[in-house]
Amino acid sequence: MTAIHYDARCGDEGRRAQIYAGDVHVISARPAMHALADWARELLVAGFGDEDPETLQHRVPVERFVELFAPIKPRFIHHPRTWELLCAVVKDMGLDPRETYLDVPRLRGVTSHGYLTSGVGYAFPMHRDTWWAAPMQQVNWWLPIFEIESASTMAFHPAWWNRAIENSSGEFDYYEYNRVARGAAAKQVKQDTRSQPRITLDPPPVDTPSVRLVAPVGGAILFSGQQLHSTVPNESGRTRFSIDFRTINIADVRAGRGAPNMDSAPAGTSLRDFRRVSDKAPMPEEIALSVDPRRIPFEEAVFQPPASLLAELAAENAERTGAA
Ligand SMILES: [Fe+2]
Repeated sequence: MTAIHYDARCGDEGRRAQIYAGDVHVISARPAMHALADWARELLVAGFGDEDPETLQHRVPVERFVELFAPIKPRFIHHPRTWELLCAVVKDMGLDPRETYLDVPRLRGVTSHGYLTSGVGYAFPMHRDTWWAAPMQQVNWWLPIFEIESASTMAFHPAWWNRAIENSSGEFDYYEYNRVARGAAAKQVKQDTRSQPRITLDPPPVDTPSVRLVAPVGGAILFSGQQLHSTVPNESGRTRFSIDFRTINIADVRAGRGAPNMDSAPAGTSLRDFRRVSDKAPMPEEIALSVDPRRIPFEEAVFQPPASLLAELAAENAERTGAA
């Protein structure tokens, strides 16, 4: 049984316990989350040359869309302002900044009617994030940037919360993925050739019931990384843009509290991607080693954005804040 909670007043600890048990939380619009969505929208509009991001797909060839969209994603993901806004969101929602770790967010664009389904517009089929080596304590936050509808949101498949489903996560190595695949998304225009964990059940569970939640701009949907979920095939006529990011409570990792592992068997762990909200300190190495004892250099364990991009964004941010 999965329950959906709206603006629950149970506090973060209670919310995490419910999320680890398969529940989903929907949060109404709040100023801090609105600010994050507004910032993403600002970058999209600027990056698309002041064209309407939701309808641009109807006016340009797909190659041009990718050319414009691809650089916006890393700008949003790695911009210092994005980190500030993320920290403001989790503090506003009552998470403890000393116990909570955040990874960089993702900015996704899912075009309508299959205009672009690969690379930077990859539409995720049913999956659990834990197949990509996410820890069982991972809480996913999903926020729309423009208003969405049932034809452009995401879907949950709660029948599989506590049932294993055959999948290929056992062939997936997170460190290898960081090294080879993640930087290559912009090159995948017509077809996605990157090796991603997938359902291998034969025949595939096409008739599995799904639940679609529609949150407002400034609101969010929170769920476990163990939850089976998918991108809804967008039939809204507009490109759907969303932000997602993840939080981890380190006390839960230490205590072994988290979602049950039904069927995830990847090599490696994404724990080192996370940094502490209070001071951006990295995840303690012993925590990562408690999940995967392989000692590997940090640069191989964590995807490294180009140093030139980080320098450019830092300079831009300094100018914005008047620190330069
Ligand atoms: Fe996901």
